[in-house]
Formats: sequence, C-alpha cells, structure tokens
Amino acid sequence: MELANRPRRLRSNPLLRKMVRETRMDPASLVYPIFVVEGENKKEEIPSMPGQYRYSIDRMGEKLAELLDAGVTSVMFFGIPAQKDEFGSGAYAPDGIVQRALASAKREFPSIYRVADLCMCEYTSHGHCGILCGQEVDNDKTLEYLAKIAVSQAQAGADMVAPSDMMDGRVSAIRKALDQNGFINTPVMAYSVKYASAFYGPFRDAAGSAPAFGDRRSYQMDYHNRREALKEAALDIEEGADIIMVKPAMAYADIIREVRTLVDVPVAAYSVSGEYAMIKAACAAGFLDEGQIVSEAAACAYRAGADIYISYFAKELAAYMKEGKLG
Ligand code: PBG
Repeated sequence: MELANRPRRLRSNPLLRKMVRETRMDPASLVYPIFVVEGENKKEEIPSMPGQYRYSIDRMGEKLAELLDAGVTSVMFFGIPAQKDEFGSGAYAPDGIVQRALASAKREFPSIYRVADLCMCEYTSHGHCGILCGQEVDNDKTLEYLAKIAVSQAQAGADMVAPSDMMDGRVSAIRKALDQNGFINTPVMAYSVKYASAFYGPFRDAAGSAPAFGDRRSYQMDYHNRREALKEAALDIEEGADIIMVKPAMAYADIIREVRTLVDVPVAAYSVSGEYAMIKAACAAGFLDEGQIVSEAAACAYRAGADIYISYFAKELAAYMKEGKLG
C-alpha cells in the first residue's frame, strides 16, 4: 500500500527509538525526600511506605552515601522533632532536628545539595501548618514564623528552602528575611500549587503531622481547580520564587503542563507519599512491575513539563536512567 506517512518507521529499531525520543531524563534533576528523627542508631521503617525509613542523624549518612553512589545529588530534609508545641518552636530552634541534620550533611556530605522543607506541621502540637487563632490558621502571624524558620535553616546549612505551608505572602516574607540576613543567593522553591490531597496520607504517618482537628482545606488548594493553580504560580513568581512546584504529580500532569506553559522559571513536580505507597502495594501483590511503572510515571511528569522530579524512588530512578533502561 502507498502511504505517505508511516509513523511506525521511527519505531522500528531500538536505537532509532532512542535517537528520536522527546523526553530525556537526567539524575541531576532528581530530589530525594528524607525523614530525620531525634535519637541515636535509628532506622525505622515507615509502615505505609515500605522501603522508606526515618533516620536518626548518626544513621542518615547510610542513605546519603547510597544516593550519591546512585548519582542522586539533591536531598530534601524533613525533620521530626521529639517534642511539638503550639508554636512549632522546634522548627526554628538553632539546635532543632532539621538544623542539626543540615549541618551534619554539610559537614559529612558536602557534595549533596541540601533543600530544606519549610513548614510547621511536623512541629506543631495541633498538626496545622501555622499559628492558630482559635480554630483558624492565622496567615499573617504565621509569616513571621516562616521567615524565622527560613533564616534558621539557611544558617544551619540549607542551600535552598522550600515552603510547603500555603500561606499567602510567604514567598516575599521569606525572601525578605533571607536577604536581610545575607542569604541573597539562597533560592526559594515554592510549593506554589499544592492541592489538599489524600495522596499525603502516608507522609502524615511518617511525620506524625496529621492535623489534630479539621483539615488543610482552608490553605491547600481544591483539586477541582485549574485557574487557581495559575494564579498561585503567578503570585509566587511576583513575590520572588525561583522555582515553582506542583504537588502531587501523578494525578496532576495537566496542571504541571499548564504551569510550565505559563512560567519561565524551572518547574518541580513532587511525586508524593501516596503515589509511592500505591506503586509499592501493587508491586508487592505482583500486579505491576516496579521498574517499569516508576519509569513510566516519572516520564509522564517530565513530559508534562517538569524540570525537577522529587521522588521517594529517586535512587532507583537514577539507576534506571543511567543504565538506559527507561522505556
Ligand atoms: C508539609 C508537607 C507535606 C508534604 C510535604 N510537605 C504534608 C502535608 O501537607 O500534609 C507531603 C509529602 C508527601 O506526601 O510525600 N506541609
């Protein structure tokens, strides 16, 4: 048959398929989220995230070394304090858990790029992402605390801060505080488009950060909304965000693409704890092949427009990328 176009022609040879591949993935774009706890000699498995652990500072190096070996050079730090209080004071204590973890990583693993998640929910007794006024999170009061936390994280050794609280105006408050304290070159990666999502369930088990009452829907976004994502991204850029994040990733590829089209800064996608848990459970049951699924889900985020991919599978992904096994 005479056909002017035979799209199959470019799929007919594996070398050719790789030559014309549109999405190329590089381990340098991966970020691994790590949970650090108080105490010594701890490596506790997170029940809803098999294969993921909470590390005490003295054992966190085991994971950092594995990541470096695999080619993952960026890590996002989450601290889980021993004590929580109403004001989340552990989040900005100079000897707080995340501050000590950042300092130790800087000393022991200087080749790792250290991102600090910046939020209060792991540190507050009520589990909300800010300071309460009655049953409400007080936006403007919370900004003062977020600014303080950012400075304390930068002083401890964070190379970048990543606010995940969803308060209005937090990027400018944080930028101002960092600049005033001499951290003009510390970038802000804003969780600009963060939906109120059931996909965070396993994370809240890991960090003990489920809200004691109510939910996060008065600050995180309604997942029915798309225009609002563009509004949040644009506002954060005006306020000085260096990188815009969309979260979760897997069910939000449309949003990643829209944000990518709108902004001219790098876009990050966070493949969250629930995405990890679903893949692990299906693979443990023998229903899916982990390597193939993890690769395909990552390719989707990059194809949608992500420049940076934050994933609990970062180590495995780096190996797939290096071995050219993807796809
Ligand atoms: C802190 C924070 C959360 C996540 C990242 N930063 C939890 C939440 O908002 O409840 C979720 C990460 C994940 O599920 O992997 N606010």
